[in-house]
Parts: sequence; C-alpha cells; structure tokens
Amino acid sequence: MTQTIFEIEEIINNRIMEIQNTLAEDPYRLHYHLMPHIGLLNDPNGFAYFNGQYHIFYQWNPFETKHGIKYWGHYISEDLVHWKEAPIALAPDQWYDINGCYSGSAVVHDDKLYLFYTGNVMDGDDEETRKAYQCMAVSEDGINFEKKGPIIYVPEGYTAHFRDPKVFCKNNQWYMVIGAQTMEGKGEAVLYTSPDLENWSFRGALAGSGHNGLFDFGYMWECPDLFTLEDQDILIVCPQGLQPKGYEFNNIFHAGYLAGKVDYEHVSFDHGKFTELDRGFDFYAPQTMIDSKGRRLMIGWMGNAEEGDSIHPTTRYEWIHTLTLPRQLEWNNDKLLQNPVKELQSLRENKVVYTDIPLSEESISLPNIQGNVFEMEIALDAADDYSFSIVLGENNQVHFDKSTDTFSLKRLNLADGNSFEYRSCLLEDLRNIRIFKDTSSIELFINDGEEVFSARIFDYPDDKNVQFNATGNVSMDIRKWDLQKLNAFNMNNLNQTIEI
Ligand code: FRU
Repeated sequence: MTQTIFEIEEIINNRIMEIQNTLAEDPYRLHYHLMPHIGLLNDPNGFAYFNGQYHIFYQWNPFETKHGIKYWGHYISEDLVHWKEAPIALAPDQWYDINGCYSGSAVVHDDKLYLFYTGNVMDGDDEETRKAYQCMAVSEDGINFEKKGPIIYVPEGYTAHFRDPKVFCKNNQWYMVIGAQTMEGKGEAVLYTSPDLENWSFRGALAGSGHNGLFDFGYMWECPDLFTLEDQDILIVCPQGLQPKGYEFNNIFHAGYLAGKVDYEHVSFDHGKFTELDRGFDFYAPQTMIDSKGRRLMIGWMGNAEEGDSIHPTTRYEWIHTLTLPRQLEWNNDKLLQNPVKELQSLRENKVVYTDIPLSEESISLPNIQGNVFEMEIALDAADDYSFSIVLGENNQVHFDKSTDTFSLKRLNLADGNSFEYRSCLLEDLRNIRIFKDTSSIELFINDGEEVFSARIFDYPDDKNVQFNATGNVSMDIRKWDLQKLNAFNMNNLNQTIEI
C-alpha cells in the first residue's frame, strides 16, 4: 500500500515537530531563499505562471539528506519574493514512477496546469533495470494533480537515461526537449512535437556531443530548456562528463547554454560555443519560464551533485541545498545577462550609502556595512593595474585582479574545513558587483549580470564582518541594505500550508 500525499505530509510534519529544537538552533537556514524544511532539495521543476501566481516545484527527498526517491515539492507566490508552501504535488506511487518523480516542467493550457516529468523505475541501484517514462499530470486548481501516466517511452537508439521533459509552445505548436544518452554513450537534447500535449512524435536530436563542433561533450545531457530571447534561440543544458579546462568546468557537472538558430522543420541547431551560466561552486539544473510581463525568468538549484553531500554543514540540521534567487535573463552583445528580479527590492531595509571611498592595501570596514543577510551594490572607479577584494567573515573572499583579468571567489573547503577552494573566471574589468548574502548562501552578479557566481559559504555564524582592500588607484561607491528575514520556512509557518 502506498501512502497518500496527506499521510506523507503528516510524517514530514511530525519529524519537523520532533526536531524543532535542532531546527531552531540552525545558523545556516536561509531567510529569503526557497529551501526544504527538511530533506534534500535538488532541481527546480515546473516553473510556471498560472492564474495570477508563480509556481515552482522542486525535486525533493523529504526523508534523507541524500539523493533517493524523489517527490515534487511545491511553492506558490504572487511576487516571486513571498512564497507559500503547497502540498507535495507528485509522489512516486505508480508503477511508472515508483522510484522517483524526476525532473520536468509545466505549461498552462485551457485553464489547466499541466506537469510533465520523468517516471523513474529501477531495482535498487541496478542500472540494468532502469526505466524512464515521460509522464503527464493535470490540475485545475494548481494544487491537486491528477496523473495521466506515460506519454512517451524511450525511443530506439537511447538508453534509459532519458529524462527531464521541458515543454513549450511556439507558433501554435507544442514542443518538448528531453535530456538523453545515446546507446553509444553520448549526451543529447532531443526534440518532440505534439498537437495536443498527449500524443508526441519523436523528431530527432537537436544538439549533442559529437554534433556541430561539440566533440566529447558529455556522456549524458540533463535538464534541457529551449527558448528564444531577442533573435537568439537558446538551449540550456547540463552535460555530464566534461573535464575541467582552466577556469571552466570545475564542478562535477555543468550548466550552460548554446545560442544560435534552430531549424524546427529539419530539427537542427546552428549554434556557437557552450558557455557556463554560473561560475560558482553551487549551480545546476536551471529552469526558465516566460511570465505575464514577458520576462524570461530562471531559477537554478544552488547545489551540484557533489560527492561531499554528507559533509555539508547543514545535514546535521536535517536539510541540504536551496534554490537560487529568481533571475531575469536578457540577451546583450552575444551574451546572456542574468540579474535578480526587481521584485526582490521589496525586501530592502536600512539603506546605507557611501560614495567615493578610497581603498588601499590596508583592509577597512565601514560602519553599518556588515551582516549576513544583505544586499550590497558596489561600483568601482579604478584605473590601470589594480586589484580589489571584499573579505566576508573570516574565510571568504571576492577578488579581482586586473593584471591577470581574473575574478575569483574563495571559500573554506567544505571537505577539510581548513584549506581554501576557488572558482574563477576571466573578466576584462570589474565595473560593478551586486552581492546577495543569505546566511550560508552568496550570489554575485558582476558587471550588470555578465557573470554570476552562486555558492554556499559557511562562515562562523556570528562573524558578520565585511572588509575591503585594493591595490592601485581604486575608489568605490557602495549601497547596502539589510534584507527582510522572511523566515518563510520556520515552524510558525507550517500551518500556512495550503490544504489539499
Ligand atoms: C539533475 C537530475 C535530473 C533528474 C533529477 C533527479 O540534477 O539528475 O536529470 O531528473 O536530477 O532528482
């Protein structure tokens, strides 16, 4: 007998009650990001705008802080800032999804919210037994979903690593992109079309390892997303199996995009090089949607499939990972720009402003520029060879060096707790940087969104110092706000849960 969603919710809530003292002591809980009360969160799913509300679902293992059998958790918001938790939307309770309701997407059609996801079926860890079914579920109220079962089976030529359907409508035609692995062990994004969301036809591979200049480009491509921005067709995809190359591909798995022109009729994609979307330690499986204002919005998983999940400092508080802030995507000069949605400004309070602060090699701190839940905007005025650093707490540093055109983020190595690790990118100049800090997370938006770094950082909870130093001729303007602690996920808010 499988449990009903109501019963599962009860088990989860009982566990939260049992460990509420531990949860209350947790210094790492986030205040304005979407995180699970308990358990493991990974990919964002089903990002959609339905009946005047934003919906985001997420891969959730509510019972452990490691990967396992996945549910679809669910949050709803009117403004992308204040979210309410809704009941679990999809639970693995059918023959076609019994080992996990894996990632997928949502579309609105005929006043209904349609979910598309991958039903994962396998016997323990035995890869030989893996099966993947692309499934559909439908809701009239955006809260209760009726499963309709599989709508696509793995086509010939592909392994059961065939998942993460992303559905969209273009010129009155439904399309779906799916992440795939060929029998030869190459990652691909494949395209399907449908007249009615129920009957789907396989149209072929749109892009992949071995296609169009991408040689040896991964043994599996996960979580594809295809959309048009300005005159560019953009395919976001997460290849697995790329080797580190200089500052690129330093995480285990990689999320990036290909931009160019899709020929939907002949199913081909003339694209440029693969560009990583985020340069930080923790970013994967992003998903986009277009909202009623016509904005292309993206949310990612602020995590990665690190082996080191077990040493993650939040596991002792029975949770792990978070979603990123919602970002707006824009296309500018051959590049995707990412910036946090402007609605987040509603969280600002206690504004502090400084202008023309000269910097030197000696680190300075500024009155009221400190904390660990804040937003900070810095504009630099600098000439010639210079370097600039922001030191956050004891262990974390943001650094730009003009002599090598390198920008980097340094954090305490989670694995050993006393060495440091780095992520970097090349940057011609550092004009401005916007920092969102939320206890144990940081997101850096550099040069109006040209580069982004997302990472979890674990400084000493009480160490709220922010310091600045520079070499060369550097002065800065700075604006800083405390951000409201929404605490949307503490005990008091459990009873805000929308009833099934
Ligand atoms: C990406 C991913 C997806 C899969 C899901 C399972 O992180 O591996 O390909 O659907 O996570 O949770």
